[in-house]
Amino acid sequence: MKIKEILESEGKGQKINAKGWVRTRRGSKHVSFIALNDGSSINSIQVVAEASDFDEELVKKITTGSCISVNGKLVASKGSGQAVEILASSIEVLGTSDSEEYPLQPKKHSLEFLREKAHLRFRTNTFSAVFRLRHALNFAVHKFFNDKGFYNLHTPIITGADAEGAGEIFQVTNLDLENLPKNEEGKIDFSADFFGSKTNLTVSGQLEAELGALALGQVYTFGPTFRAENSNTSRHLSEFWMIEPEVAFADLNENMDLAEEFLKYCIQYCIENNADDLQFLDARMEEEESKLRKEDRSEMGLLERLQFVIENNFERLTYREAIDVLRNSKPNKKNKFQYPINGFGDDLQSEHERYLVEKKYKKPVIITDYPKGIKAFYMRMNEDNETVRAMDILFPTIGEIIGGSQREERLEKLKARMEEMDICQKELWWYLETRKFGTCTHSGFGLGFERLIMFVTGMKNIRDVIPFPRTPQNAEF
Ligand code: 4AD
Ligand code: MG
Repeated sequence: MKIKEILESEGKGQKINAKGWVRTRRGSKHVSFIALNDGSSINSIQVVAEASDFDEELVKKITTGSCISVNGKLVASKGSGQAVEILASSIEVLGTSDSEEYPLQPKKHSLEFLREKAHLRFRTNTFSAVFRLRHALNFAVHKFFNDKGFYNLHTPIITGADAEGAGEIFQVTNLDLENLPKNEEGKIDFSADFFGSKTNLTVSGQLEAELGALALGQVYTFGPTFRAENSNTSRHLSEFWMIEPEVAFADLNENMDLAEEFLKYCIQYCIENNADDLQFLDARMEEEESKLRKEDRSEMGLLERLQFVIENNFERLTYREAIDVLRNSKPNKKNKFQYPINGFGDDLQSEHERYLVEKKYKKPVIITDYPKGIKAFYMRMNEDNETVRAMDILFPTIGEIIGGSQREERLEKLKARMEEMDICQKELWWYLETRKFGTCTHSGFGLGFERLIMFVTGMKNIRDVIPFPRTPQNAEF
């Protein structure tokens, strides 16, 4: 039986078997109390082993980290702290664990230390809760879109396109790097490469998702994306997962409505289905924050914050309005921003995003209509010829969680923009053809899956919400 099921059962002396990993064993000469966890729940089951029933040598092998199978009776617990416990009749040690060497001692370890033990960190309460929530969110994403009649589209991982045009790509090749084929001009001959052209890992499935949307109506991708940006921050990964819906006939307003509904749905799903894990993480965050200076603490606890986001409308304002607010803000006037806001054209840094979300509006904010110069080529140009139909959703403590836009569906305007931004039209001939054959208004966005998990779990470093993070200088495990 899974421990989750056992914990929900009544202890009537029924015979059961449980398998799992030992968190702790304590007790006396006469009796051992073993906390056993199998990952099905944040809670462990208490196993009681009377010394008289067990060989001393066997009991010695039941150490923190070992794996055991227990047969016994499920009974109401005599101790406080748990409703039921297993009275063991036989125990088999499936896998021993040298207690001196085992890195996860029954004490608090730092997240940095556990990152180095990423192969074992699933066995801690914090990480098991985080990864159960990651699963729940993954499931919620598919359920949300399926219920709305979207089709999940698998877009390629290997591509020739750099959708965002930022040049932060990982090249894919099987050429011998020590002995590269050259053409007559002395340049690398990519026609000799595996795919006959230059390829890279995808930075976004959007361009292909658009092709799908312009026939299937509403699609979404959910896949890994790769970015070689050398930013070693707590919010960036080199390999992260992105959800990208794309909707035919939707304009930017409908796009924002969909994004807001989607985020609220995912959070609500976790509150309904993962209450134990969230309660644990709520208490964990409170404890972590109690170590911070008062002014650095969050105003709300984790659960309170999640509820707050579900219950309130996101604040929507244009980039121009945001710049005005920021220019006239206290920190800007007092020169407290590292990057002072002067006016139109300034890119919003995370300090500005946090000011708007955490200080000014105190709720999620959607900023629209950014200057064309700081956004990608595919966004729809506004009448003013200066701004594009972009939207970014900013979340408390996270900053940008979603980036999206209404797409430029007018062939001539799209071509002009690509020219201006030096994007090769020949390579994207297929993208341009959708504007030639039955083009229409359409919009979409990308949600950084790990950033959503950070928000829901209260984890402050993105490396702690993906099983095996890839970041500059690090691809272990
Ligand atoms: O804003 P971005 O770059 O938008 C796109 O890629 C569009 N093609 C999306 C679309 O319209 N279909 O990325 C979208 C989101 C960001 O808001 C952020 O949450 C996340 O992806 N993201 C990252 N997450 C972790 N590590 C990184 N290095 C990230 N870069 C972006
Ligand atoms: Mg963005």
